[in-house]
Amino acid sequence: MNAMQENEINDRGDAFRPVAVVTGVGSGIGLAAALGLARAGYALVGVVRNGKRAEETRERILSDVPDARLRLVAGDLGRQREADRICDEILSILQDDCGGRLDRLLYAAGTVTSWYTATEDDYETQFAVNHLAAFRMGLRLREALSASGDGRLLVVSSGSHYQGRMRWHDLMRRRRYHLLAAYMQSKLANVLFVHGFNRRFASDRLRAYAVDPGLVNTDIGAKSTSGLVRRLWDSRRRKGVSPEQGAAEAIRICLAPAAPTGPYDYYKDGHPIRPSAASLRPDAIDRLWTVSERLCGLEGAGTAPDNGKAKRGIEADKGIEARRERPCEAVCS
Ligand SMILES: NC(=O)c1ccc[n+]([C@@H]2O[C@H](COP(=O)([O-])OP(=O)(O)OC[C@H]3O[C@@H](n4cnc5c(N)ncnc54)[C@H](OP(=O)(O)O)[C@@H]3O)[C@@H](O)[C@H]2O)c1
Repeated sequence: MNAMQENEINDRGDAFRPVAVVTGVGSGIGLAAALGLARAGYALVGVVRNGKRAEETRERILSDVPDARLRLVAGDLGRQREADRICDEILSILQDDCGGRLDRLLYAAGTVTSWYTATEDDYETQFAVNHLAAFRMGLRLREALSASGDGRLLVVSSGSHYQGRMRWHDLMRRRRYHLLAAYMQSKLANVLFVHGFNRRFASDRLRAYAVDPGLVNTDIGAKSTSGLVRRLWDSRRRKGVSPEQGAAEAIRICLAPAAPTGPYDYYKDGHPIRPSAASLRPDAIDRLWTVSERLCGLEGAGTAPDNGKAKRGIEADKGIEARRERPCEAVCS
């Protein structure tokens, strides 16, 4: 069983308890954010990688917030089918326990991978976990967020997106894979996604944010990495803030009485700040949207605003598609 059924997140007396979905809730920024939201009275649906993580996370959250309303869904977000199944389970929990409403979606799952690895869908792992699963969840849970009347989608991006470049002809980085280049691209994709989401769906009922937590002392650089990268990360992470401090901006946006609005959708240290020029390009925003729809099998989930440059890029992607056989290579090689 993947959804832990012990306690419903809302009972009859809880009809108006706000509800948040948090991914990456097993550790680091996701766990710290979940604890902050639970303390603030949010009912939580957390996404963890597997059943063992679910048990540890349940214990951790309930030991800190004994009356937390918590459901956990386990699965590998890097696998398209599992990410889809996770969305199904979350939607069913929301339907059963909260009338289909979702107030906050915080995508804090993420990975750093030293070597080129591909998921079962043949997608590069960092791109699949850090971007595609966020894209899928944002789109699949969008109606539930809208039903809130004040739905907020938050994606944990990174200051490293400023150095990120979309390698459109090889999004999966099969050629000359480099950990940092792939990571930065995935973090730039987070910001492009947030911009694309707001261009299509932002209203006074729904808004998306990219959050920059700064350097945070977590295990992220020590999980799927080589000994050298682990040693480098070990010395670098000590300069970082605690996960609680790293989660503060996401919690602030979640708890703000009114949805923050500012000149940018990228937030750090309590302020909207200007994200990279690459993340603001309308053609790149729409091109990534269209490619991601295709990679996730969610075509038509948000109509691209009319944009000549984006269309030319998309037509080029279609040309690639016609020449290739594998669905992944079709859109991103
Ligand atoms: N730490 C920093 O300095 C920093 C700076 C900027 C941005 N960020 C971003 O912050 C986010 C959270 O990172 P963190 O530093 O808090 O690291 P973390 O503690 O490793 O958190 C990442 C979480 O994502 C989960 N996860 C990874 N791959 C998954 C998969 N395939 N399926 C399901 N869950 C998966 C991990 O689960 P497991 O532990 O079970 O693998 C973990 O709980 C990431 O997006 C990262 O890019 C971090």
